[in-house]
Amino acid sequence: MDSTFWRRPTLSLLALAICVTAAPSRRDNSVTIGDSTYQSGGLVAFGLIPSDFIESTGDTLGGIGSATTLKPGSWKALDNGTFTGTLVVEPDRGYNVVETIDYQARQHYIDFWLTPYTDSSKLSFEDAQLTLVLSYSHTVLLNERDGKKTTGLDSGSHRNATGGDPVLPTPTSTDRLSLDVEGIVANEDGSFWISDEYGPYIYHFSAEGALISTIAPPDAIIPKSKSGDYDFTSVEDPDTGRASNQGFEGLTIDNENHVLYAMLQTATVQDGGDQKETSRYTRLLGWDISDVSNAVLVGEWVVPLPQSKKGKTRGSNEIAFLRDGIFLSLTRDGNGRGDEDLQASYKQVDLFDISAATDIHGTKYDDPEHSLRKGGDGDLDDGVEPAQYYSFVDMLDEDGLARFGLQNSDDQDDKTHINAKFEGLVLAPTGKGDQYFLFVVSDNDFQTTQGISLGQPFDAGIDVDNQFLVYTVTLPGLTGQIV
Ligand SMILES: *[C@@H]1O[C@H](CO)[C@@H](O)[C@H](O)[C@H]1NC(C)=O
Ligand SMILES: *[C@@H]1O[C@H](CO)[C@@H](O)[C@H](O)[C@H]1NC(C)=O
Repeated sequence: MDSTFWRRPTLSLLALAICVTAAPSRRDNSVTIGDSTYQSGGLVAFGLIPSDFIESTGDTLGGIGSATTLKPGSWKALDNGTFTGTLVVEPDRGYNVVETIDYQARQHYIDFWLTPYTDSSKLSFEDAQLTLVLSYSHTVLLNERDGKKTTGLDSGSHRNATGGDPVLPTPTSTDRLSLDVEGIVANEDGSFWISDEYGPYIYHFSAEGALISTIAPPDAIIPKSKSGDYDFTSVEDPDTGRASNQGFEGLTIDNENHVLYAMLQTATVQDGGDQKETSRYTRLLGWDISDVSNAVLVGEWVVPLPQSKKGKTRGSNEIAFLRDGIFLSLTRDGNGRGDEDLQASYKQVDLFDISAATDIHGTKYDDPEHSLRKGGDGDLDDGVEPAQYYSFVDMLDEDGLARFGLQNSDDQDDKTHINAKFEGLVLAPTGKGDQYFLFVVSDNDFQTTQGISLGQPFDAGIDVDNQFLVYTVTLPGLTGQIV
């Protein structure tokens, strides 16, 4: 079977390459922080993986945007204007719209060919897909050290700390590790880090998919009941710690200084995370992993997320380290294709800067008794300075979408509508100074009418393809990236 996802085009790639001319006028956004100006250059490529694509284990490929990164060493500029590479992606916990399932966590490898399109004339939806051609390669399943499979089942229970592991989330029915993967960092040696929502923890896995070690955050982040018991379920909020389904969505690395960063999607419960109106003060944590078997927490900062006009917090679904103190955040609403509410109003890749923010690690705020906020949901405590947050790449820019046959209207619910959920970010150099490609990848929640989950067919009632949007951005002075 041909594993390449696109259908034969009506426009040749050569014609596309010739079309690459001067950049059209579009809503460019630039942000100046210190001496540096960060610039958003607009959408240059679009690709998709059909919602019904079946991977090698026999399951629907599903929501791969949850965690996305570039395989180190795979990125290459060809001499004809096309760029190629391999994405390493992980879905979260399988098709779980009805209930969570016994889905073994897994990693897929996806090859791609990117031919940027910067002309202002509009491509059809079909021709647009030639700008990013994607081809499934293979899958690696994740296990514990003893070969025990991980599971996606809700973590209604936990396992005692043993053999160097902290207390780990497990379902009530078995003592296997529950994983809901949301972030990934790939290392040059083939091993990788993933972050999850149940713990929320960070796990180090070998290239073969075997668990090596686990990083646990401070008690303030771990979900607990008032009595201090672990409460890892995603069904309801704990009394303190990460709110349900609001774990470590963001994971990134500063390779130069060997610091691994993870960020909660929204605030912990004690910091207001049980309500969308009060959940904006999330936390970013950094661990020194110079000694990979002994990660040391070296920093913790408060990041103020944007809110809607109605005061609802926009969660952060991914982060990317850029340079000393500066990060990207994929921040958005949940509306769009695949959601009941079709028209999206906020999907952005924003910037934030922690250089003047207070480092709260090792303070009373690592104890769940102490909220960062006065009265639990008021102003930030005196002496807690949050990060600076800047609006940057607007994914809903109508002209940009239209150039690739895409739209965000409130009445056209078809495959050309921008997806509701984007959760993956990838950066790769264009070769032109400080300019980079920024891939933003969607998680379709396994929504297909032709699905297979654990060998059984399912029909989610809608076909939501996995969309990939690629932008150019100017990011001066980047450090710590490995391509
Ligand atoms: C460039 O060459 C690669 C490899 O042969 C091919 O896949 C790609 O389509 C070519 N790009 C263009 C713009 O012709
Ligand atoms: C786990 O730890 C608790 C508290 O220390 C102890 O009571 C319990 O017996 C342990 N469970 C197992 C399976 O070892």
